[in-house]
Amino acid sequence: ENPQLTPFEIFFKEIEKFSKLHMKDRDRVQEILQSMQKAGSKTLQVISDFDMTLTRFEYNGKRCPTCHNILERSDAISSDCKKKLQELLDKYYPIEIDSTLSVEEKLPLMVEWWTKAHELLVNQKIKKAGLAKAVKDSEAKLRDGYQYFFDHLNEHSIPLLIFSAGIGDILEEVIRQTEVFHPNVKVISNYMDFDESGVLKAFKGELIHIYNKKEGALLNTGHFQELRTRTNVLLLGDSLGDLNMADGVQDMENILKIGFLNDKVEERKQSYLDSYDIVLIKHETLGVPNAVIRFLT
Ligand code: TMP
Ligand code: MG
Repeated sequence: ENPQLTPFEIFFKEIEKFSKLHMKDRDRVQEILQSMQKAGSKTLQVISDFDMTLTRFEYNGKRCPTCHNILERSDAISSDCKKKLQELLDKYYPIEIDSTLSVEEKLPLMVEWWTKAHELLVNQKIKKAGLAKAVKDSEAKLRDGYQYFFDHLNEHSIPLLIFSAGIGDILEEVIRQTEVFHPNVKVISNYMDFDESGVLKAFKGELIHIYNKKEGALLNTGHFQELRTRTNVLLLGDSLGDLNMADGVQDMENILKIGFLNDKVEERKQSYLDSYDIVLIKHETLGVPNAVIRFLT
């Protein structure tokens, strides 16, 4: 070890080992991190998206499932419904990642996707008791390094908000089964509403889709009020809509945004570099967020 190196230089050497890491403004990242480190881990909160951010995008060349996909591929759903959900995915996912459309153009279509998918799911009379098995049988995979990520944040009592347009019941089950659903974790997502006999009858509350995380955040002012002394934020996402997850944070001083760019890389690279401080391109681990957390604690 070179004794001349500052802790920050050591940290940077560590993260720059990740060849898929890109930054538009390295000095700005340094400034943010130094300011966050100075403020101390008692002022830190972490806000993360779930699907394709905490979970893997690909494994052994195969796409990994989102919360919705976990249900779709399970035996809780009829084959006719599977087909319809797949048709929705084939129609709307290309729109989600289309860099030639504006958010305003995409928004109504995303509402349409979520609304139709949830209608189909509600018609399936899904049983609450079957969700654990659906997750167990699925190929859902948290990104490598998840153990350190969840455990270390909990050990340091750093709040982790998982803010997802997926399905809350499913994502909770994923982190419960991997034994990382610690008391520092809070989830904002679409939760299922079951009738007395445990059959899905609707989704609770306001729909959260990929482009209304701002509204979702503002509906949860209580959570952000509780965390008002935590003025420094580490944000993790994989969509440009995830940038709004911190819109409810009170008295924010610094925010470091790390974005996973999983798909349509060339088309979207510039917009990700413009909006995320650190962009990880087709990178499947939590190594960089973990290095940041290690540096800040
Ligand atoms: P996230 O906010 O946790 O990333 O969840 C949103 C993802 O869910 C988004 O990438 C699209 C995906 N999705 C499906 O895979 N199937 C569906 O039916 C719907 C509505 C969304
Ligand atoms: Mg996502």
